[in-house]
Parts: sequence; C-alpha cells; structure tokens
Amino acid sequence: MPPADSPAADSPAAGSPAAGSPAAGSPAAEADPVVRAFPTPIFRHLWPDSGDLNAGLRELVLARRAATPSASRSNVGGWQSSHDLMTWGGPHVARLGRYINEAFGAAMEAQIGTRAFTCRLAVTAWANVNLDGDYNRHHTHANNHWSGVYYVDLGAPDPAVVPNGAIEFLDPRPAVGVYDLPGVPGYSTWTLQPQPGEMLLFPAWLRHGVLPFRGRGTRVSLAFNLRVADLKLQR
Ligand SMILES: [Fe+2]
Repeated sequence: MPPADSPAADSPAAGSPAAGSPAAGSPAAEADPVVRAFPTPIFRHLWPDSGDLNAGLRELVLARRAATPSASRSNVGGWQSSHDLMTWGGPHVARLGRYINEAFGAAMEAQIGTRAFTCRLAVTAWANVNLDGDYNRHHTHANNHWSGVYYVDLGAPDPAVVPNGAIEFLDPRPAVGVYDLPGVPGYSTWTLQPQPGEMLLFPAWLRHGVLPFRGRGTRVSLAFNLRVADLKLQR
C-alpha cells in the first residue's frame, strides 16, 4: 500500500495525453475556436471484481464503528472514523492503497501526459457510515492536493428518492452567478450517484457534500486526502 509519505510513482506514466486536448497548433486545435479555460476534473474509476474487497472493508469499518465513537466533522448523523485508516492493516487496506496510487497516477497522466516524475505521496483516509437520514455538509479538504472517496456499500436506498446518498459538487466559479440567462447553463451543481467499487478523485479545493441517504442498511464509504511533496518532473 502507499501509506503516508511513501514513494508514489517513480516510473514513466503510461498512456497518452487526455483525449480531447490536442496539441496546440494541430489541425484539431485550430478547428475548435473555443478555449475552455478552467475545467475541473473529477476522475471516476470503477474497480472490477470488488466484491471480496468491499466485504472485507465493510467488516473492518463496522468493527471499528462498534468499538469507537464518531469523529465530528462534515457528518450530520452517521459515523466517521479517525484519519488513520491506512494504518489499520490487512490485505483489503493494502489493495485500497494500490487503487489510490493508481488513481493518482491517472490524474497525473491527465495533467502531464507521459512525462516521468517522482514524488512522495502522503495519504490519509477515513471511513464514513451513514444510516437513514444521515448526510455530510458541503466542505473542502484544506491543505491537500487531491481528495477522493471509495464506495464500499450503498446500503438499500429507497428507489423513490432520487438522488439518494449521492455526492454533490458545487460549481467552483463564484462569479458565474453575476448574470442569469433563462435556459442558458449558469451556476450549477454536479451530482454523482456512485456504485460499489467506484472511486472518485477530485481537487481537494472542490466544494462538495453528500446528500441525505434514505433507505435501509448501512452506507459505507472511505474518504481520503493526497498531499504531494518533492515532485520532480523529468524533461
Ligand atoms: Fe469530503
């Protein structure tokens, strides 16, 4: 796993520059007269064959929940663990750590293409358990570069409630609301309804929250922060 302050990536990132971003001067770039100046990436990874992983993580989290009181942060109701999840040990936490490292590598590739790099990656993670009616207020993750969440168990949401327990991202452009043209997209939110085995990775400054979960069972997710240090890009 890539615990706190472990080497993250010391080999060339694989793949090619992100689709939809042709090199300046290319025919495709010249054909598109629109510059989208401040896009905000939200990476989605659906890890395959996650049934055993999710069962193991769920058992681990619920055992912690039974033994320790909740931390009090963004949660309204529900339970949050301490931020030391990456030290809980075992094969499931190790696999989660590998997934986080891979997601970080994909985010770097989207930014710098195939350039090689080295860095240290500090990872902190914690668990969230929401029951019927629980939610998380809007917040950011200060003093980090990337944040993310991995979905272990979505419980048994009431299908009549949509969206239900979804994560909601707020438009990061505070000035976009200075005018409103009916029918023209303006200030917005971006709501994602996750599924078990899915991981999201997004800039830590991007304000977000979790909409109320309505239903039965336990909704278990694992949140994490990434802080990059000593980043060296090769020419
Ligand atoms: Fe968060």
